[in-house]
Order: sequence, then structure tokens, then C-alpha cells
Amino acid sequence: MNEAIRPGAENPPQTLAIPRLSVVVPTFNERDNVTTLFRRLEATLSGIAWEVIFVDDNSPDGTWDVVRGLARQDCRVRCIRRIGRRGLSGACIEGILASSAPFAAVIDADLQHDETQLPVMLALLQGGEFDLVVGSRYIEGGKADSFNKQRAGASHLATELAKRVLRVRMADPMSGFFMIRRDRFEQLAPRLSTHGFKILLDIVATARGELRIKEIPFIFGSRLHGESKLDSVVALDFLGLVLAKLTHDVISLRFLLFAMVGSIGLIVHLATLFVAIEAFDVPFPEAQASGAVVAMTCNFILNNFLTYRDQRLHGLAILRGLLLFYLVCSVGLFANVGVAFSVYDQEPIWWLAGAGGALMGVVWNYAMSGLFVWRNR
Ligand code: GDD
Ligand code: MN
Repeated sequence: MNEAIRPGAENPPQTLAIPRLSVVVPTFNERDNVTTLFRRLEATLSGIAWEVIFVDDNSPDGTWDVVRGLARQDCRVRCIRRIGRRGLSGACIEGILASSAPFAAVIDADLQHDETQLPVMLALLQGGEFDLVVGSRYIEGGKADSFNKQRAGASHLATELAKRVLRVRMADPMSGFFMIRRDRFEQLAPRLSTHGFKILLDIVATARGELRIKEIPFIFGSRLHGESKLDSVVALDFLGLVLAKLTHDVISLRFLLFAMVGSIGLIVHLATLFVAIEAFDVPFPEAQASGAVVAMTCNFILNNFLTYRDQRLHGLAILRGLLLFYLVCSVGLFANVGVAFSVYDQEPIWWLAGAGGALMGVVWNYAMSGLFVWRNR
């Protein structure tokens, strides 16, 4: 052994228990909650070898800094600070994969989940009868009183849809509180979506009935500090996940949103053309060019707002992104026209050639925008 690291008398070896349970906590702006959660975990998990991994998406409130402080005092705490990324599902996946314990739990940082159920969940998994234990709000003994009417309605609707369309047989597939065997999770991980926030539904739908699931009731409490990060656009994420699972991951939500924004762009283009020619007497070539620029700009803004909201560009990066987007779309136009011509050459059916060209254009624009404009850092 290297002399420098040989434990000496003044340097007693730390006997670290190898964790049986990794608790993964996704955080975004939870500065005031993380210490309380850690203390509660400590109290409830005494007697179990555990660790906690906070996965923070570079919270502006400096949550990661508070977690680092905890980690400096207790080696059971770890912090993954992700820069340039957002998303609850992705954070949970990354947290679980960063650990090696045979069991991994996911729990929210805001204390809405009941951490005292963790030992119960662990005992159930260790019994070997189940692969996944879920904290459920919708079985006897569970509750979600803290939801307002609108949120409760949306939650029930999504649950029903998931059950019927994806044939998920559980009461609460939308729960964010669960514990899973790591070997099962590792098998599924490559097929999970990092986008969106419905990680449990994704796990269960991806496993296609192969997981032995147990639901236990818990009462979904009120947030301690701060506010919910789930806005109304998460409904779109949810539908995207359902669609992806239905089509065996062939169609992604991002592509669908991108194509939808593209069709809005077509309408914007035609509207601009109409106004320029009819109201301002602009000659056709100039009107057509302005239509294209207005449509591309509008598409860029919509994509930045919706399609790539988890990688949204801010400040000066917007200008750079816009110029790159113009460039990508201009080349896409060549690809579009090129394909349309060659299809028309083979088979002179105008709509087939036109649709082929448009499809080529949108696929090109999508692929190149992901590579150059909203590239994952
Ligand atoms: N790293 C990371 N990145 N964490 C995030 C992000 C993100 O983009 N968005 C939210 N979180 C963290 C929050 O900090 C919190 O610890 C946890 O994820 C849940 O987020 P909330 O904003 O508190 O969500 P909620 O209370 O509205 O929704 C909860 O209940 C739903 C059940 O209806 C979550 O548990 C959902 O997953 C669950 O479906
Ligand atoms: Mn919450």
C-alpha cells in the first residue's frame, strides 16, 4: 500500500458501511428543504446502511451549495450538480446510475413524500417477492389532499389514460415516490426517456408487465418551502411519453413538437406573404423572402420556448442560436427541394414529391438543430 495513504494512528481508518440503499433526491431550487430532508432520512433510516444522492440542476438558489455543505460533514451525502440540463426524469436516472447499492429509492426534496415509508419499502424489496415498491396516493390509506381541484383532476385524468392506453396495472403510476431493485433498473435504463417527469410510468411501461410491483399507501403532504416546478407544459411531456411508449420509441415528443412548430411556421409564412403582397404591394420575391425570415424567426422562438424548453437558450446565446437556425433551415430548404425534384423525376405526382421534400426538410432541420442550435452541452 502507498505509504501516504496507509492509515496511521492519528489517521484511524474510516469503516464505511457499504450502502444497501441509495436514496436519490432530484432538486431544483430546494435550498430550504434539503437539510430538513437529510435530518429526517437520518432519523428514519438508522440501522440501515444508506446514502443519499442529491441531483441538482444547477439551481439558481444554490441548493447544490447547501448539499455540498452537508456532504462535507457526512460522507453518506453526495451531490451531482448538472450544468446545462433540466429535467426530473433525467436527474433521477442519473442519480440511480451514480450509485451501486442493490436498492434505490427516489423521493422529492420538498417533504411531500413520507420518508418514514422507506424502511417498509426496503423490507418488501429485501423479501425478494417484489422488484418495485411504489408509494401510492390512490389506494386505501393513501391521500393527496394538498392538491387543488385542477391538479387533482389532471392527475386522475393522466392516471386513467396511462392505465387504459399503456395497460399499466397500478393505482398510481404518476407517483414520484418509489424504490426499485438496482439490477432491474439497470436493465431498463437504456430504454428510459430522460425527458419529462414521469419516470415511474416510464419504468413500468417500458418493463411491459415484467416487474413485480407492490403499492403501499402514503399521504402526499404539503410542500415545506418553495413552490412546485411542474407547469402546464408537463401535460405535453406526459402525452409525449404515452406516444413514445405506444410507438415503441419510434416517435419522440421532441420530434413531434418540432414538426408541429414547423407546420405553424408554414401558416406564418403564408400569412406574411399575404400581408406583404396585399397590404404593402411588395413584389413577390421580396415578399417570399420576408415570409421565410418571419417564419424561421417564429419557429426559432417557439422551439426555444416549447420543443427545447429544457435546454432553452438565454441572453446572447439566443442571437447566436437564431443565426445558426437560419443557416440550418436554409440548407434544409435545399434538401427539401432536392428530394422533391428527384421524387418528381421518378414519379410525377406533385403531392408525393412535395410531401417527400417537406419530410426531408423537417428531418434535416430537426437533426441539425439538435446538433448545432440546442446542442446538449
Ligand atoms: N434535478 C431536477 N431537475 N429536479 C427537479 C426538476 C428538474 O428539472 N424539476 C423538479 N425537480 C425536483 C423538485 O425540486 C422536487 O424535489 C421534485 O423534483 C418534485 O418536484 P415538484 O415541483 O415538487 O413537483 P410536484 O410536487 O408538483 O409533483 C410531485 O408529485 C407528482 C404527483 O402528482 C412529483 O413527485 C411528481 O413526480 C409526481 O408525479
Ligand atoms: Mn412537490
